Amino acid sequence: MQFFTQPKRYDDVTTLSNEDLICYCVEVDKKSIVEAIKKGASTLKAIKEATAACTGNECARKNPNKRCCSKEIKQLIELYA
Ligand code: FES
Repeated sequence: MQFFTQPKRYDDVTTLSNEDLICYCVEVDKKSIVEAIKKGASTLKAIKEATAACTGNECARKNPNKRCCSKEIKQLIELYA
């Protein structure tokens, strides 16, 4: 039997580990975004500036949700800001 590691689809950021990617285009993990929020980045623009997350343009190909990661970043801001 062969196992494949597939990127996780995610709809709820609370189910993700710190090492799970939030932004697949730029490869920014949950921990990096939460750390930026805790250092004061409390808007999507500030997260982009601090981590480069949500600045890619290959979401449809790289992100398992086939869309931009902004929804998940906004969820993290709501949880940790
Ligand atoms: S997944 Fe973050 S910019 Fe594409």
